[in-house]
Amino acid sequence: MASNPHAEAPSRATEVQQSQPSAGPSASQPATRQTPHVVIAGTGDAPPPVIDTSASENEGQAQPVVDTSVSEGGPDDGDNLDVASWGSRSEAGDSAYDELQSQTASVTSSILAGHWENGRRYHAYQSGQYLFPDDELEQERLDVKYAALHLTYGGRICFAPLQDPQNALDVGTGTGIWAIDFAEEYPGCTVTAVDLSPIQPTWVPPNVKFEIDDAEQDWTWPEDHFDYVHLRTMAAAVRDWPRLFRQAFRHTKPGGYIELQEQDYMGFTQSTSRNPGTAFLTWCIQQGKAAGRVGVNLRSIPAEKADLLRAAGFVDVQIHEFRCPIGPWAADKKMRDAGLLQLSAVLDGLEGLSLKLLKFYDDGWTKDELDVLLAKVRTELRSRECHAYWPVVVLYARKPE
Ligand SMILES: C[S@@+](CC[C@H](N)C(=O)[O-])C[C@H]1O[C@@H](n2cnc3c(N)ncnc32)[C@H](O)[C@@H]1O
Repeated sequence: MASNPHAEAPSRATEVQQSQPSAGPSASQPATRQTPHVVIAGTGDAPPPVIDTSASENEGQAQPVVDTSVSEGGPDDGDNLDVASWGSRSEAGDSAYDELQSQTASVTSSILAGHWENGRRYHAYQSGQYLFPDDELEQERLDVKYAALHLTYGGRICFAPLQDPQNALDVGTGTGIWAIDFAEEYPGCTVTAVDLSPIQPTWVPPNVKFEIDDAEQDWTWPEDHFDYVHLRTMAAAVRDWPRLFRQAFRHTKPGGYIELQEQDYMGFTQSTSRNPGTAFLTWCIQQGKAAGRVGVNLRSIPAEKADLLRAAGFVDVQIHEFRCPIGPWAADKKMRDAGLLQLSAVLDGLEGLSLKLLKFYDDGWTKDELDVLLAKVRTELRSRECHAYWPVVVLYARKPE
């Protein structure tokens, strides 16, 4: 596809658009999504993508790759195309083709079906890489949290001083809500939005394209390409920040920007809080320790991220710090609304955020013990006496000309 920067090089990315997946399974239902409608972005009702697992040897494991040239109907658009020869496949050719189609369908559908555990759905592509679910409840949490952060940022979706960006990248786009808003604000910019989970909507502005890929593998987009690389609330997702920043640097245009909009998973209570938030703080601490044991740093300390950005080569690091209240306790009306949304996101998210980490909590916690803790956390955060908040930070930095 002409608009696909991956088209020239072999790519791991599976570019999909799909209908929204089904709600989670009940005890009596099989754990699958509704039949997905998979198309290659920009081609309308095309057949499922052709997946070429042979291009994966440099990653050490099978990685589906979409060969869009085949999917779009032919290997060559040139004048010398021998169309007649297309009709002379042997039977063996037919069966290989049938097999390829069924393999394609199977890999595609397994990515779309996800992986179920403890009644929650997780991403199937690079299964196990990310700690949190991707089902309806988690998507709801992401969107409500987005609204809370939007208010916290005074309605801004971007802080870097962009001028007519042509190409932007959203790393770990989730439901794609930020990418869609950004694409609407910058209609002349092609927004590539990548995630492990195919949970993005079908109807999006024409300048957004979603790709299913692992952003911690080698990037296959062109170098010096993006005017803007954006990451939002990725603390729980990224295992190797220095490497990710080095890749972002390489693929950002000279003069372009990287921006992080991060929420620190270590919550705090404000001095006005008459409720100490003991259960909430215990939960934050256990989550942080457990994530650390699987190689994920849930903290978003601005100075640390700034140092890593500089080490990757970025300059002029700017830091904006905020607090997002959890609960409607703030005096300011907008922040009260932000707090209400954030409270709803936390209440929706508590269990999903904890389930995979539980086995790494101190001293072998049981699910029952977790349930008791989470019940206490809910009661605390719903109390008007508890003035809890998440620290939130925006950092942006420039790649020198
Ligand atoms: C907390 S969510 C944030 C989503 C979105 N940026 C937002 O703020 O709403 C983290 C997202 O990163 C994705 N993710 C995790 N690891 C990833 C990886 N290695 N490559 C691409 N996406 C990843 C997850 O699937 C999830 O959608």
